[in-house]
Amino acid sequence: MKILVVGSGGREHALAWKISQSPQLKKLFCAPGNPGTMSIAENVVIDSSDIKGLADFAAKEKIGLTVVGPELPLTLGIVDEFEERGLKIFGPDKSSAQLEGSKVFAKQFMERHKIPTGRARIAGSPEEAEEILNSREFSFPLVVKADGLAAGKGVIICGDLKEAEQAVHLIMVDRKFGESGKRVLVEEHLRGKEASFIVLSDGKEIVPLVTTMDHKPVYDGDKGPNTGGMAAISPSPFIDRELFSGIMRSIVYPTVNHMREEGRKYKGVLYVGLMLTEEGPKVLEYNCRFGDPETQPQVLKMESDLVDILLAIIEEDAQGKGIQWSPRASGCVVLASGGYPLAYEKGKRIEGLVQASETPGIVIFHAGTKFEEGEYYTSGGRVLGVCASEENLGETMAKIYKAISGISFEGMHFRRDIGARREEQG
Ligand code: AMP
Ligand code: GLY
Repeated sequence: MKILVVGSGGREHALAWKISQSPQLKKLFCAPGNPGTMSIAENVVIDSSDIKGLADFAAKEKIGLTVVGPELPLTLGIVDEFEERGLKIFGPDKSSAQLEGSKVFAKQFMERHKIPTGRARIAGSPEEAEEILNSREFSFPLVVKADGLAAGKGVIICGDLKEAEQAVHLIMVDRKFGESGKRVLVEEHLRGKEASFIVLSDGKEIVPLVTTMDHKPVYDGDKGPNTGGMAAISPSPFIDRELFSGIMRSIVYPTVNHMREEGRKYKGVLYVGLMLTEEGPKVLEYNCRFGDPETQPQVLKMESDLVDILLAIIEEDAQGKGIQWSPRASGCVVLASGGYPLAYEKGKRIEGLVQASETPGIVIFHAGTKFEEGEYYTSGGRVLGVCASEENLGETMAKIYKAISGISFEGMHFRRDIGARREEQG
């Protein structure tokens, strides 16, 4: 079968890497892919949001399965377009992807169905937001969220009234995140540990993925601003069997079941961003796609054929289907450009990459890289994800950090404390 992976980040390289090992694969394409996917797939120059271009390509090449990485094409309706044209594609349709595409929709959905989440109010104008802020219904800090996709930046934690008013102004008046600024959520600030809980759903049956822990803050010790994710390890040291069942029972099944009852059969990845609070797990957000960098350690642990499972989800035939996972630990540490997650530098030559990639047991997934005249250069904020999977977390991280010591580019920075906390070691 011919398979197409849509996207160009580390997550898509990891998906392509796993798919490239499938016995069902005849030819793999990535659109647009990156220099890492180039060695396992044919990169095609089509933007990941060019839905019509992608559907035309899939039809012309008789692609048997398309796997979508990023959220934007999903919320724009890529699945609807492909399905109308009889093309097989993995992901939720436009109406189901609203769970990620609109924070207001997600919040109202959770409130309707008593799915545990932070208390929130919705404002449709700056005046309404001001009223909510002044009502003292929420103590500080509180959280102001733009309604739509904002490249992960539309969530502002505000320490006092002035900051909250500035956040509302930035989102609703300056329209810093465009149309997402039509409405805002004012939400209570939740405390606890964050966890990414990621499953596949065929609309009814759930196939959980192995647990992971993301590391969002840019600096060691969870300091500094949040990023898309600087590292991920698997399994998550914080989700034990009991918590796992609790999350499935109180959050994952109710989400999928109520979506189906509302006529939105949720097929694809359901990524639940959780805060593990003293009162139990609460939903911070839903994503309708795989995590980045969570996917990287997940594919390293996956022993089953990913293509099989994705097809079962599309065919609504996931009942009794499980994924085999290696019992080993796995991890991914992101090497980022100087300045990231704020304005960052690009075009720096990457040294030592080829040699590090050849280290036995090391897998390096590309994200923001460029290949020119035999050399690799940086071209994005998150540049590379250095990954390994060993007997335990300690050995995994030692292996990863040793490989990283051979790679360098100007301004390169990364978290040096992954797996170092006592509680992470299980
Ligand atoms: P979201 O896109 O809604 O997940 O928000 C991005 C990040 O903001 C989350 O990963 C949390 O770190 C933080 N965040 C969002 N909502 C809350 C909340 N209610 N309380 C505390 N932190 C939050
Ligand atoms: N690593 C966070 C995300 O994929 O949303």
